[in-house]
This record gives sequence, C-alpha cells and structure tokens, in this order.
Amino acid sequence: MKVIKTAAFQDQKPGTSGLRKKVTQFQIPHYLENFVQSIFNAIGDCQGKLLVLGGDGRYYNKNAIQTILKMAAANKFSRVIVGQHGLFSTPAASHIIRKNQAEGGIILSASHNPGGPNGDFGIKYNTSNGGPAPEIVTEAIYEISQNINEYCIVDTENIDLSQIATSKIGEMTINVIDSVQDYADLMQHIFDFSLIKSSVKSGALNLCFDAMHAITGPYAYEIFENRLGMTNAVINGIPLEDFGGGHPDPNLSHAEQLLQTMKSINAPDLGAASDGDGDRNMILGRNFFVTPSDSLAIIAANAHLMREYRQGICGIARSMPTSRAADKVAERMGIECFETPTGWKFFGNLLDANKITICGEESFGTGSDHIREKDGIWAVLFWLNLLAIKKQSVEDIVNQHWKTYGQHYYARHDYEEIDIGKAKDLMQNLEESLTGLPGKTFRGLEIKEAFNFSYTDPVDASVAKNQGIVITLKPDSRIIFRLSGTGTQGATLRVYLESYEPDQTKQGLNTHEVLVPLAAIANDIADIRQRTAREKPSVIT
Ligand code: G1P
Ligand code: ZN
Repeated sequence: MKVIKTAAFQDQKPGTSGLRKKVTQFQIPHYLENFVQSIFNAIGDCQGKLLVLGGDGRYYNKNAIQTILKMAAANKFSRVIVGQHGLFSTPAASHIIRKNQAEGGIILSASHNPGGPNGDFGIKYNTSNGGPAPEIVTEAIYEISQNINEYCIVDTENIDLSQIATSKIGEMTINVIDSVQDYADLMQHIFDFSLIKSSVKSGALNLCFDAMHAITGPYAYEIFENRLGMTNAVINGIPLEDFGGGHPDPNLSHAEQLLQTMKSINAPDLGAASDGDGDRNMILGRNFFVTPSDSLAIIAANAHLMREYRQGICGIARSMPTSRAADKVAERMGIECFETPTGWKFFGNLLDANKITICGEESFGTGSDHIREKDGIWAVLFWLNLLAIKKQSVEDIVNQHWKTYGQHYYARHDYEEIDIGKAKDLMQNLEESLTGLPGKTFRGLEIKEAFNFSYTDPVDASVAKNQGIVITLKPDSRIIFRLSGTGTQGATLRVYLESYEPDQTKQGLNTHEVLVPLAAIANDIADIRQRTAREKPSVIT
C-alpha cells in the first residue's frame, strides 16, 4: 500500500448528480484519486465494509474502475461487487446496493452528457439505501476534498473484469458479477412478463427501443428480446465508449432515428429511449410524444393495475419544475403530492419513509420505490404492461388522461453554454425584481406569485434554498427559471413553461404554439435575449 501526497483541487463540488467534468480534467494526476479518497474519508472507517462499483462504460470508465478498486483495497473495504467489464446502469447499481446491503456504491457516469476523450466523465456516490448521497453527505465529501493532502492506493496489477469470477487484492475480495441478470429478475418480479409476452406473441404489441449506444443495450436485449420475445426491438444496442459520437440524451432533439421510426407507416406501438447510464426514459406512441410530466402522472394514475403496486400507491413526488399533472392525480386519489427541488437525491427520504411510491422529473426521469434512482427500462416496461392491459394506443391513453384530469401544456427551453457571469447576473436581476412582480400584467396575463423556491425536507427537516425562481400567472400557468447543476461548460439557463388547460375542446393543440405567450413573458421578465446574447434556446424539450 502506498500513501501518496496530494494537493486539493478547488473545483470538486458535486452538482445535481455527482461530480461531473471533462474527461481531460479527470485525467489530471490525482484528480480522480482525491475525490475518491474524499468519499472514503466521508464514509469514515471502511474496514469490513462492502462497496458496489460500476459505470456506464463511457471513455475512462475502465481506467477509473481499476484505480478505485486499488484505492478501496488500500482503504480496507472487505469486499467490492463490480459489474462485469466494470459496467452497471445507474438503476442496476442502485438495486445491487440494496440487494446486498452494501455500505454504498460508486457509479461512474456523466449520465446523458456526451462521452469520449473530449467528452464528459462523472463520479457519484450512492448510500446504503441505493440512492444518490443526500446533500449533507455530498457537502461533507466536498469539505474533505478541499483539505485533502494524501490518499492511499495499493500498488498492484490491474484486475481482470472480463470474467464473472472472484479475486482478491490483499485482504479485499472482488466479486465480478453479471451486470444484467439481477436487475432483469427485479423487473420480471415487478411486471407481468407473461401478459406482455402473450400480447407480443399475438402481434398486438411491439416496441422500438433506442439504447443510444449506451449502457441499456445489454439490459434491453436481455429483457425485451430474450425474456419478452420481442424480435428486433432494440436499436443502437451496442454500448460504445463515445456513444457513437452522439448525445445519449433521450429527447426530441437527440433520438432522431427513433423519431423517424415512430413517424413511419410501420411504426410500432411503443417507442422508447434511455440515456447514457440508463436512468432516463422517453416514451413515444405512433407519431406521438408523451411529455415526461404526463408520463409520471399516467404511471401514478395506473400503478394499481400493475402487480407490484396493486395495493395502491401511498404518495407521489415530483421535482418543482415538473408539470403539476401528477398533482391532479394525487388530488383525486386523496394522497399527497410532494414538490421537491431538482435532482433525484431529494426523493430518497420520502421513499425511505414510505411517504411516496412513485416519483419523477420533467427531465425524462420516472421511478418508484423499487430502487432509489430513476429507472429508464422500468418506465418502458410500465408502458408495455399498461398497453398490454388496456389494449389502447399510447395516444388514446394520454388523451383519455387529459379528459379526466386536464392537460398541462409543457416545455423546457435551455440556453446552453452561456457565459457564467451573464447567467448569474440574469438570475440575480430576476431575484431582485421578484417583489415588484405580483399583480403586474404581461401580455394579458396577471402574475400571481413570484418567489425563489426553497424546500424543507418533511423527513429530516433539512433545508435546500435557492432552488429556482417560480412565477405563477392567472389563471393557471407557471414560468420557472433555474441554472443547471450538471453542465461542464459555461452555464445553462433552463426556462420551464407550463399552462394548464381543463377545457377538453382546447386540448391536444400544438404545444409550441400554445406556449408562445408564456415564452414571450419569460423573456419580458428576465430579458433573456439581451442578457444571454441568444436569439432562441439551444434545445427545447
Ligand atoms: C438535470 C435535470 C434534473 C436531473 C439531473 C440528473 O439537472 O434537470 O432533473 O435530476 O439532470 O439527471 P440540471 O442540469 O437541471 O441541474
Ligand atoms: Zn442519466
């Protein structure tokens, strides 16, 4: 074992989801090691403990895994469970942590950010409940990283991760396990695979799943093709270190091939995609897009039809910028709908305390209490199971939902890679104007409230402040502004637009057109174009 002297890096503050930087940053000597040692120091005494380790297979995954294994041995973990070839999707890692009652897990991923030598890399720590470390833990890791002056590592050969086998570094056992099987078994336990399978067999149900050359490929082949008998259901299923040069983000801008398939005459009943690390999902019907916020609401409204949730659900949670479609479902069910800050880590306490069963975010994330991460394949299976039960099209299911609960027109406008100083100024300026806004009318719509969202966790009373600026307008619209916490270059301003329409005759219209006035008001209020020097958003989802 070697103790290596090091000096702190100032920029190791975890964001919305772990520490995310350019690969080139992680390649700086000691950069990765410092952060990993900070995680281990935050855990405290690692002696005798079990760690789960795996990543989404992006460039640098292989190097980082070897370093972390050697550091885990030096820090006296008794055992590490690592996915074959160093791979785990984020949801699978969450499941493995829970199943094996591990101390925690390290997941290597920058989620939906592009990969490759010039792309992004990331590292996040999940605690024993299988979920992203809460703020109190990420803060502690950051504090330690600011004063770190040494780390420990065992000087040894690289471990062979290509075979399912058990080996050792010194006293520490390394179990290389199949990355897919446990997770696939969990899915088979939750959903009615025989029903789905028989619908598939009769020709009544088919799927196109786009794995975007990312981690879900092997999971999708096993689950959709092998276990459910859906032939040729998976596209872009071979994981690549740079995701084939693409942007592994399942949305209308990045999953082009899938969109074309879903527009064609032979479109399957369901189209779906997942992101770099397998926690996000996009759901499409034939020539029809389901907003993630609607998908969350529909999943919550129909959960009782699934085997796993047949007793009903105990509560729902959504992140603050997510549309309030789920709130309508909760209201009707007489259960609570919690509004949390952006980021899955805020759902952990609610799930652990059995206050919620289903949760989700507008950013293509949906999940339940089966694990403590959002789960892309779970969401796709939910929809498959729902289609097999209802024998309706995706579009019909969504239309029916709107008729019952009203429609929340919704879009997110992202201004990416803008100057950090300008972005901060914009937010600061907006913040200062808040008190003067209520009562003012913009383009015929009166502002009801204007505030900076803060959240008090109902379980541990921890407070998260400054989580985004919320503007509500009469009769029932919202505009939300916040800066992204996951980017690695410049700043990204996110503007979320939402307008509620209970009138059935005004539902199903073109979302973009319906939201034009709100987009204009957002610009009036925050002076976006002027301040960002951008004529229009870089991405609309
Ligand atoms: C984004 C999403 C957020 C999600 C996170 C991790 O964070 O907006 O909902 O939890 O990625 O997938 P942001 O960049 O907005 O901070
Ligand atoms: Zn992700």
